[in-house]
Amino acid sequence: RPSNHVTIVEMAPRDGLQNEKRLIGAETKIELVDLLSDCGFERIEVTSFVSPKWVPQLSDAADVMAGIKRKPGVRYAVLTPNMQGFEAALAAGADEVAIFASASESFSVRNINCSIAESIERFRPVAAASRDRGIPLRGYVSCVVECPYEGAVPPANAASVARQLQELGCYEVSLGDTIGRGKPEAVDRMLEAVLAALPASMLAGHFHDTSGRALDNIGVALDRGLRVFDAAAGGLGGCPFAPGAKGNVDTVSVHRYLALHGFETGLDEEKLAHAAAFASSLRSPV
Ligand code: HMG
Ligand code: MG
Repeated sequence: RPSNHVTIVEMAPRDGLQNEKRLIGAETKIELVDLLSDCGFERIEVTSFVSPKWVPQLSDAADVMAGIKRKPGVRYAVLTPNMQGFEAALAAGADEVAIFASASESFSVRNINCSIAESIERFRPVAAASRDRGIPLRGYVSCVVECPYEGAVPPANAASVARQLQELGCYEVSLGDTIGRGKPEAVDRMLEAVLAALPASMLAGHFHDTSGRALDNIGVALDRGLRVFDAAAGGLGGCPFAPGAKGNVDTVSVHRYLALHGFETGLDEEKLAHAAAFASSLRSPV
C-alpha cells in the first residue's frame, strides 16, 4: 500500500451503540451496518460477544451478525473478552475478533473484572483458538494516556501491554484514549514508548473526542507513522465503564481531515454522509 493510504476502522455499531442509553433494536443496528458496508470500509466492528449483564445494549450480538448483508471484501469484526465470547463469535461467523486489555489496573477491573495479568491469561486460549481457526486477532489497549480512575498513565505501561498483546498473536494493536482527554503531547510521548516495542505498521489509533483533541492526536500519530485509525460514524460511542467519556472521533471529520492532509481512505463521501446521518439519528437526546 502507498504510505498515503489510511485505513479507517468503523466503530459506530460497537463502540457507538454499546453506550446508548435507550435500547436500539437489532433491525436498526443491521440497517446501520448495511449502510456502512456500502461506504468502502475494509473493516467494520459490528458488536461484542460480552456478558449481557455487563453490556445489555449488545445482548443481540448474534441476531445482528445473522441479519447483516455481508459485502465481499469487508471484514466484520467483533469483541471477544473470553472463550465463551470467542465461541459465540465463531458461531455467528465473525471474520475477525478482538481482545481488549487496559494499561491501567483500575480500568481493567471495572471493564472486564480482572487484573491486567489475569486478562492476558484469559486471552491466551482465545489467541490460540483464533490462530487455529485462521481468524485475524486484533488487540486493544485502553487508557493508554489517561484513566478515569487513576489519572495519567505512564507510557511504559501502555507499551508493556501492547507488547504482550502482540506476543499473544495480535496482528494489530489499537491504542485507546478511552476517555478522550489525551493531549497531543502526552499521546506523542505514549507513542514514542510504544514504538520502541512495536512497529507503526502494527498499531492503530483509537481516539475518543471528549476534549476535542482527537484530530490533533491523529495528526501526531500520522507523524509517528501510524496509518490505521478507529472512528465512529456520527461520533457515537463511549464506554459504560469510563464515566464521562464521549464518543469516538467522528468518521466524517477524520475522513475530511485526512483528505486535507493528502491521505486517501477509499471511502465514498456521499454514502458516508448518509450512513453518518443515520448513525446520528440513533443518538440518545441529552
Ligand atoms: P465476569 O462476571 O467476571 O464473568 O465478567 P464470569 O466468567 O464470572 O461470568 C459471569 C456471567 O457472565 C456468567 O453468566 C457467564 O455465562 C456470563 P451467569 O452464569 O451469571 O448467568 N458470560 C458471558 N455471557 C456472554 N458472553 C460472554 C460471557 N462471558 C461470561 N462472552 C466479563 C467478565 C469479561 C465477561 C465481563 O466483565 C464483560 O462482559 N465485560 C465486557 C465489558 C465491555 O464490553 N466493555 C466495553 C468494551 S471495551 C471498550 O469500549 C474500550 C475500547 O473501545 C477501546 C477504548 O476506547 O479504550 C475497546
Ligand atoms: Mg472505545
